[in-house]
Order: sequence, then C-alpha cells, then structure tokens
Amino acid sequence: MLSQTIQKKLNEQVQKEFYSAYLYLSMKAYFVEKDLDGFANFFDIQVKEERDHALKIINYVEDAGGQLELYAIDAPLKDFTSPVDIFERTYEHEQFVTKSIYEIVNLAIEEKDHKTSAFLQWFVDEQVEEEATMLKNLNKLNLIGDNSSGLFMLDAELAK
Ligand code: FEO
Repeated sequence: MLSQTIQKKLNEQVQKEFYSAYLYLSMKAYFVEKDLDGFANFFDIQVKEERDHALKIINYVEDAGGQLELYAIDAPLKDFTSPVDIFERTYEHEQFVTKSIYEIVNLAIEEKDHKTSAFLQWFVDEQVEEEATMLKNLNKLNLIGDNSSGLFMLDAELAK
C-alpha cells in the first residue's frame, strides 16, 4: 500500500511527466517549422521518453496497490524565440523535475516507504542524464552563437 501523501505526489508526478511530453512536443513543433530535422528528432525522442516516464509511474502506483488519479495537463509553453531559448527552458524544466523527484524520495524516506524510494532511484539516475544532455546542448548552442554552419552541424548530430 501507498500512503495517501505518497500516492498524491506520484499522481502529481505523472502529470508533470505528461506535461514534459507536451512541452517537448511544442518544442519539436518549433524545429519542424524551421526545417531543423535533427533537433525535431531529438525532441521526438524526448516526448516518447517523458510519456514512458509517466507510464512507468502509473504502473508502479497500480502495482503498489495505490489509486491512480489523472490530473489536467496545462497547455505547454510556446512562442519560443531561438534554439538557445528552448534549451535554456529545457534545462530549467529538467531541474524542476529533478527537484520534484527528490521531494518524493525525501518523503518516502521519512515515511520509511522503502519500495517507493527504491523505485524512484531509477528516476534519480535518469534525471542526472537528462539535465546533462540539456546542458550540453545549451552550451554547444551558446558556443555556436550566430554561426549557421555550426547550427546545421549540431542539427546533423541530433538527427542520429
Ligand atoms: Fe521525465 Fe525529463 O523528466
């Protein structure tokens, strides 16, 4: 069984993961419009990963005998001004998600809910990778600046 508090937090995390998928879909649309197919591919992968994160938590809530509650998902950000703007926001967003995961882990430890704490360890590790990926791309874009050939090179790299 899950405590009511942990259950609510996990259900809220499902909402945050689906919002992440929604946000990255909105970012993908920006790159599709700009014909930057590599960046679009990168965000397409992120969308699927975020959806999988949400499903993973849903499965856990159900397996742990909790009750799933699906909350409304806000419209994602849009009207991005540049690739740098997008990656600044993704980096910020992933930091927000990490903080949210940590809060649930802290709560699970407080409640001696070892199964939830162990389950969330995967997300703790995943967030390290996600933050690093977003920051790496942000740093590259800052180095590229206004150099369009640099932008096309990164686009080609992200197509893989
Ligand atoms: Fe599921 Fe990118 O956090």
